[in-house]
Amino acid sequence: MSDVSVPNDVTLMEKVVNLSKRRGFVFPSAEIYGGFRSTYDYGPIGVQLLRNVKDAWWRSMVQMRDDVVGLDAAILSPPAIWEASGHLKNFTDPLVDCRQCRERFREDQLEDLTTCPGCGGKDTFTEARNFNLMFKTHAGPVESDAAVAYLRPETAQGMFINFSNVLQSSRKKPPFGIAQIGKSFRNEITPGNFVFRTREFEQMELEFFVPPEEALQWYEYWCATRYQWYIDLGIPESKLRMRPHDADELSHYSSGTSDVEFLFPWGWGELEGIANRGDYDLTQHATHSGEKLDYFDQATNSRYVPHVIEPAAGATRTMMAFLLAAYDEEEVRGETRTVLRLHPRLAPYKVAVLPLSKKDDLMPMAREVLGLLQPHLMCDFDETQAIGRRYRRQDELGTPFCVTVDFDSLEDQSVTIRERDTMEQVRVPVAELLSHLLPRLA
Ligand code: GAP
Repeated sequence: MSDVSVPNDVTLMEKVVNLSKRRGFVFPSAEIYGGFRSTYDYGPIGVQLLRNVKDAWWRSMVQMRDDVVGLDAAILSPPAIWEASGHLKNFTDPLVDCRQCRERFREDQLEDLTTCPGCGGKDTFTEARNFNLMFKTHAGPVESDAAVAYLRPETAQGMFINFSNVLQSSRKKPPFGIAQIGKSFRNEITPGNFVFRTREFEQMELEFFVPPEEALQWYEYWCATRYQWYIDLGIPESKLRMRPHDADELSHYSSGTSDVEFLFPWGWGELEGIANRGDYDLTQHATHSGEKLDYFDQATNSRYVPHVIEPAAGATRTMMAFLLAAYDEEEVRGETRTVLRLHPRLAPYKVAVLPLSKKDDLMPMAREVLGLLQPHLMCDFDETQAIGRRYRRQDELGTPFCVTVDFDSLEDQSVTIRERDTMEQVRVPVAELLSHLLPRLA
């Protein structure tokens, strides 16, 4: 999904990939063995950023609402789920092979169906065949058909198959939602663009069950709410858009879908899809399992199958969008300062405590300040290098505040707070440190 009118900002992409490796956000997986096909490991800083993205989602989708509850369903799943959901039949990409160079391509991504982009061969493609994107494995010691299991390709089905369990145990009634964050797996033919498309990734999905006549109104509500979430966390409006799907793009279950798209360096790409799935999923699972998956409304004395509105976002992909949007460079006293202007809620470290010198006299107080902050905030502690270089490192990690303990601190029981974006410094008594920082980090 790319927009060719947008300049190909390779430099920004390269800079963010380099920074990710250098500062410990994201490492290529199995690097000491030569890497492993578009898989990535999240380093000490990346794991924190990814966790903060997921926490921000959970906070807005579960914690701040009384009509959504959480779930954490199994990743390993029996074929029956995917038979019912339609994934065994429909979750496929059309593949063609070039008979000349033996490369394999997704037919729907080829610009010219007569010419191989690999070797330039003319009319060298085989007939397209459908390739299922689900990872198949076997549960237990015997590799028989009866033992086949799949790694889930989306978290969504966990919510549908637990609809009755959640309804009964939580005493919710439509409109209400079930939210889940977790890993999903797809055997993508063309992974790439860093963590944009990988075979193992994390999703943040909500299935919101509503009376059928309220479906359109809730679909519009969730489109607006989800768009605003990205804006509130610092993605500029110029880099975000809502794109309704054309009829021929809709998934097999959807009667309406809109994507929240981010302007990546190569063009517009999807961060999240908001789909009006109708009663497709509950009806399919009810038919295939023989269990009733509906709701009895005592007020109207009627039974109905709720319709589902699904905002489905990618956590890892969204983390990358936040990184790209936050990356900034500016000239400071003849030098380039790189700074990640991350929203404080997303910043991996909220505060770095920096003793001005490594000398023993400052350490006890610096450690005391760290101990004061740690129960409330994720902190870094750095005693190495010159103070200027330590500030620059924290700028590259996106740390909103540095707290410096210097020799005057021993006398006046105060510390210097340096703010990431403005680089302004203020002197604050240690006793007031938390009350100064906490409101600025909310
Ligand atoms: N339950 C609906 C569903 O899974 P989707 O559009 O296929 O919908 C939702 O996936 C989100 O998951 C996408 O918008 C994207 O952010 C993320 N996603 C999907 N495939 C991905 C992949 N291979 N790598 C990283 N993120 C992916």
